[in-house]
Amino acid sequence: MEVASAMLLVFFIALHLHTGQASPASLKVGLKETPSMLVFGDSTVDPGNNNKLRTSAKANFSPYGMNFYGGQPTGRFCDGRLATDILADKLGIAKSIPAFLDKNLTLEEARSGVSFASASSGYDESTATNSKVLPFSKQIEYLRHYKLHLRKMVGPSEAEKMLNTAIFIVSAGSNDLMKIAIAKQSTNVSIPNYKSYLITSMVKYIKDMHRLGGRRFALVGVPPVGCLPIVRTLSGADKCVDALNDLADSFNSQLIAQLGVLKKSLGVKTAYLDVFTVMREAAKYPEKFGLIESSKGCCGTGMIEVGESCKGQSTCKDPSKYMFWDAVHPTEKMYQIIINNVTMGLYRDILN
Ligand SMILES: *[C@@H]1O[C@H](CO)[C@@H](O)[C@H](O)[C@H]1NC(C)=O
Ligand SMILES: *[C@@H]1O[C@H](CO)[C@@H](O)[C@H](O)[C@H]1NC(C)=O
Ligand SMILES: *[C@@H]1O[C@H](CO)[C@@H](O)[C@H](O)[C@H]1NC(C)=O
Repeated sequence: MEVASAMLLVFFIALHLHTGQASPASLKVGLKETPSMLVFGDSTVDPGNNNKLRTSAKANFSPYGMNFYGGQPTGRFCDGRLATDILADKLGIAKSIPAFLDKNLTLEEARSGVSFASASSGYDESTATNSKVLPFSKQIEYLRHYKLHLRKMVGPSEAEKMLNTAIFIVSAGSNDLMKIAIAKQSTNVSIPNYKSYLITSMVKYIKDMHRLGGRRFALVGVPPVGCLPIVRTLSGADKCVDALNDLADSFNSQLIAQLGVLKKSLGVKTAYLDVFTVMREAAKYPEKFGLIESSKGCCGTGMIEVGESCKGQSTCKDPSKYMFWDAVHPTEKMYQIIINNVTMGLYRDILN
């Protein structure tokens, strides 16, 4: 029981962008016009929207943020920047992507990009509502508000153009898969049916974003959830849980297939950001990526702490040698590795 509730506490992650060692030096200047970035999903891409909500899925306290600008916690489930912050910086969009619900957010900042994401959310609305966080429907409603602000600021046709060129990043699914993996032990939920349900929801949300002007979509696959330190701990085996990784892998295959369908039917640009492969590789061979620890997180014992239970805990000496910051979420270092791995694909598929 404790185990299950600890697992449900797991907010999530999801970003996985590709790699790429040497990102082309010309990347910043390679873009004719700097697009904006609009972000949806879970804790992998939430810069602090949950700070404003009555939820326990928060990270706006130390040691979170120790390597962020100014060394301050912001609500990001990371020691430093999230993958979307790193990518926005790399593309010359902004130094970081702020939370839509941040009261200090200026229109000028929001113009270059904003995140509507909410830790603990998922493609299944009830994943989010159970944790009292923003479901996708709410994230999209906020996109509608954002568009209204934009229209007031720059006029309707310019606002439409900005949405047409914006990079929409969607990173979710892990919390849903974790939820169903736990529930399976006590109910008869059919996993294939649930996966289809998640994919159908994803398709619906992309269509909603398309109706609001989105034309360039980057979908982040789910990570190898069986390798999360908390999952390893709770399973009692000192290794990745293959069954969960297989579930994540098959979910990603369906995601890719539906993304292909959406690309054709909507006539939009799409990119699939494969974080699964590079994360599974890093979990197996951390040294290949300059890491020394991939089985536990840097916060506390690294075996179970995430969010509230990481609050005020001591940390490992050097988070840049760790794959995971807490028992669920990657370090900024891992996010950099991921971005290096996926940027070329993103550039090829939607930024050209
Ligand atoms: C991304 O990482 C995977 C796994 O390590 C590797 O096989 C692939 O070549 C990398 N891709 C790029 C563009 O670096
Ligand atoms: C908002 O700005 C005020 C005044 O500059 C500052 O004191 C406060 O810490 C800021 N809040 C956030 C969440 O950044
Ligand atoms: C689960 O499925 C089994 C076999 O089909 C059935 O006997 C049982 O009543 C089901 N349990 C629930 C909770 O639906």
